[in-house]
Amino acid sequence: MMPGTVESLIGRWDEQQAAYITNREQRFDIMLDVVARICETTAGLDVDGSGLIVLDLACGPGSLSHRILERFPRARVLGIDYDPVLLTLASEWLGSQHGDRFAPIDADLASTDWPSQLPADTGAQIAVSSTALHWLRPAQLVALYETLGSVLPSNGIFMNADHLRYDPVSQPLLSAIAADDDRRTQHAAHARGVQTWDEWWTDAVAFESLAQHRAERERRFADRPPTPHAPLELHLNALRTAGFAEAGVIWRHYDDVVVLGRR
Ligand SMILES: C[S@@+](CC[C@H](N)C(=O)[O-])C[C@H]1O[C@@H](n2cnc3c(N)ncnc32)[C@H](O)[C@@H]1O
Repeated sequence: MMPGTVESLIGRWDEQQAAYITNREQRFDIMLDVVARICETTAGLDVDGSGLIVLDLACGPGSLSHRILERFPRARVLGIDYDPVLLTLASEWLGSQHGDRFAPIDADLASTDWPSQLPADTGAQIAVSSTALHWLRPAQLVALYETLGSVLPSNGIFMNADHLRYDPVSQPLLSAIAADDDRRTQHAAHARGVQTWDEWWTDAVAFESLAQHRAERERRFADRPPTPHAPLELHLNALRTAGFAEAGVIWRHYDDVVVLGRR
């Protein structure tokens, strides 16, 4: 793909994602602020990201990885994803922007052996994820947190930004208010011409370098049924059970939440 084409596709990815997430940049910003604090206060790290290695779980085309690499110009990010189309796009884009400070890792986070795909002695102090872990079934999520607990060092940090839906049965008003907000955000974005998820994908697979991975993408995700709801409490309890010393919310907008766990 031509450089300008990659950037246009990435720009439209960000726009279409922001149509489903009212304050997407704000929630990225708070995660970056926490990363900055970790860099300032951890021996061996520096404010420019020297010594810092971050795992971006389900990185997609690399939105959060890019923001980390921009703000911390000496940090390195390992971006893990199971979608060969999005991982190829991440690799092309972030390779052109940040060279080998970004490494794509092809792995399935629903399995427990994903750390075997990481380089030996990864040394990551922080793991992040955005808009992705709702793809996992609750049992897979609990297993992921267990595994992550063995990958991160003591005091390592995990942050997950995602919609953690209210329970429509016991929280009908909260569910309705959050759904109204989602609708408003989507309506405003689509009214000004922002692409939908499906429109973006139609454009993406029109490029040969991405289209060649489409069949493999479809094969990998063919047997994944829609996932049941995993509420905030499940995330917090799963982190504590996995050995994280503390877990709590650092940001929220209705049911859109950033959870932080300290190993
Ligand atoms: C909506 S995208 C979000 C991407 C990116 N984190 C962002 O915020 O723009 C969800 C991502 O989760 C990835 N994903 C879903 N299930 C996965 C799994 N089992 N293992 C690894 N990645 C997975 C998808 O391939 C996709 O890239």
